Amino acid sequence: MRTQIVAHRGDRKNAPENTLIAYRQALAFDELDILEIDVHLTKDRQLVVIHDEKIDRTTNKHGYVHEYTLAQLQAMDAGSWFDTQYANQHIPSLEEVLALLREHNFKKTLLIEVKTDHIEYPDIEAYLLKRMQQEQPEYQVIYQSFNLNTLIKLYQLDHTLILNALVFYPNIKVLKLYRKGIIKAINPDNRWFINRLFWYKKASVSPWTVNTEAAMRTIFKAQLGRIITDDVALAIKLRKEI
Ligand code: G3P
Ligand code: CA
Repeated sequence: MRTQIVAHRGDRKNAPENTLIAYRQALAFDELDILEIDVHLTKDRQLVVIHDEKIDRTTNKHGYVHEYTLAQLQAMDAGSWFDTQYANQHIPSLEEVLALLREHNFKKTLLIEVKTDHIEYPDIEAYLLKRMQQEQPEYQVIYQSFNLNTLIKLYQLDHTLILNALVFYPNIKVLKLYRKGIIKAINPDNRWFINRLFWYKKASVSPWTVNTEAAMRTIFKAQLGRIITDDVALAIKLRKEI
């Protein structure tokens, strides 16, 4: 089985994560299988794509995403922290990412992480699903979250969704959801997982975030379903060699 490669926050190694340039660069890899994005809600209840619940690390401003409107967030510089050549990059709305995928005639898989692990965004699950139902994408969509309540809410809204639980290491609650078929894969921290490869036989897994050559080789040899990485180019190169 060919292990699928997931571009974590876009082409994160070479561009500021979760920006349109990072996604464009990831989409330029023909052999990429899955694009990953992280979503939050703004003060004016717009779905926005950024990793942290705070803007401090990846913009030139401070505070929580939910304290700002989409327009305010989009006026910030979301690229200079990575390299000054990306000063023109902004925090993308989900709308912009969906438009980019349409523009690219994307037919692969979009992995949407609902970022409710530190902040509660009321009804983000229903809001996100409504938007994706309107979109009716031709590509597959997988939803993942560290927050099991979010996954259960998504399941209650639509039993047909493909849901993945993000974990540092698996626990009983997550395994129960997996056995019941509510979640289709368990995505563990590769630092826990890499020495416990026997475990993959018990569950469908997508370890994150796998960036070393040694870990990639191990996972490709084990023929795991997916690998989530910041270094898409390296993953593609090594997959061909194994
Ligand atoms: O896709 C897995 C990975 O994104 C989970 O961790 O913190 O990078 O969102 P994080
Ligand atoms: Ca993520």
